[in-house]
Amino acid sequence: MKIKIEPSHLKLGMYVSELDRPWTESPFIFQGFELRTVEEIEDIQEICQYVYVNTEKSAKSVHAQLKNIHKSPQSKTNKKNKTNKKNKTDDTTKTKHSGISKSSTKVEHDVINKDIHKASITRNKTRAYVDDMLAEARMGKIIDTKTAKSLVAKMANNIIENTDASMWLTNLKKRDEYTAIHSVNVCVLSLTFGRALGLNKEQLNELGLGALLHDLGKMHTPLEILNKPGKLTDDEFEIMKTHPVQGYQTLEASSDLSPDVLDIVKSHHERLSGNGYPAGLKEKEIKYFTKIVSITDVYDAVTSDRVYHDGMTPHQALKNLYEWAPGNFDLKLIQEFIRTIGIYPVGSLVELKTGHIGVVIKLNKQQRLKPILIMIMNRHKEYYAKRKLVNLASSIWDTKENKPEINRIIDAKEYDIDVTSIIQEESIAS
Ligand SMILES: [Fe+2]
Repeated sequence: MKIKIEPSHLKLGMYVSELDRPWTESPFIFQGFELRTVEEIEDIQEICQYVYVNTEKSAKSVHAQLKNIHKSPQSKTNKKNKTNKKNKTDDTTKTKHSGISKSSTKVEHDVINKDIHKASITRNKTRAYVDDMLAEARMGKIIDTKTAKSLVAKMANNIIENTDASMWLTNLKKRDEYTAIHSVNVCVLSLTFGRALGLNKEQLNELGLGALLHDLGKMHTPLEILNKPGKLTDDEFEIMKTHPVQGYQTLEASSDLSPDVLDIVKSHHERLSGNGYPAGLKEKEIKYFTKIVSITDVYDAVTSDRVYHDGMTPHQALKNLYEWAPGNFDLKLIQEFIRTIGIYPVGSLVELKTGHIGVVIKLNKQQRLKPILIMIMNRHKEYYAKRKLVNLASSIWDTKENKPEINRIIDAKEYDIDVTSIIQEESIAS
């Protein structure tokens, strides 16, 4: 049975099956989900006047409350006397100025820049290490896993201290340096995800190390196959498919890595239905850490520009991962990953209701629909000479009529925006 209720009556454990608008017009990726955090309830309260809750799919702990709500008249009331938030916000688009300049806080910007600067030092060192490591692997030399371990530990510490700064830097992608950048990014994404899953430091170090080394075997894949601008032939794909085992053999021979780390390298292309490679393992045969990296690997791959395709927006990539999950990825892990990366992932381009465009630089954990943005374009889609920071959750907006609010996520291609350059400039500015 589904019950129509006001968002103020939502409780953790309730399964929201419908909103008061199509899911595609909401920022939510799941089309129906059980409420697991207070932030999710707040997100719904932010945008909806009412929602429908599916009683069968809700947790048993809320069944009694749902029964009471169903019996009470509130579930049937209309909200004539309520302020129509949507209309109100639409009106704000007609106001003359956005108030953006007023929200710029230098101190906040400085703090964010300091965190990004710190994360970029470790990232650059790791990047340089990966370049050396890949060159050594190509020459058949022994891999220096000791340095890898200490770099991963530093990255894990940075992420524990400040996830967003490290995540921001994962958007620094270059078409022609894919494998090295991808290795570092999959490491950062896996550490971020692992932390959200509650892994301890030791476990994070193992997971991060496997993620950093996962594609080492690609150093034995011919460049014309790795960078082929088009679909691989069957023969070429067979060669490509050897990289997990080649990476595994290189590392197994040269080091003191744990079985979990080696398994990530060997099995990150295995899929739950047994359709993956190299061994065609099934769901229960794939290790937990390997399942995590199989998700972060695909997420980074599809959001990256490659020789043969342009990357998807982070938001679109999360939607696709959710659709691809059956038979491929652990659905629970995918759901957790989506919750971790967020509704407006760091590095996303968003358009405000006023028409201004900004890049998400930091999330607000308590108000996930209101991240901190670096504003890059005005309402006429002209670049700002000097970019400003806007915290959509700032209390300075409470008394203003013209609060800046996100209208939608946009694709960089829509206005030909070079996100990598913007992120690079902002990171150097620090
Ligand atoms: Fe791979």
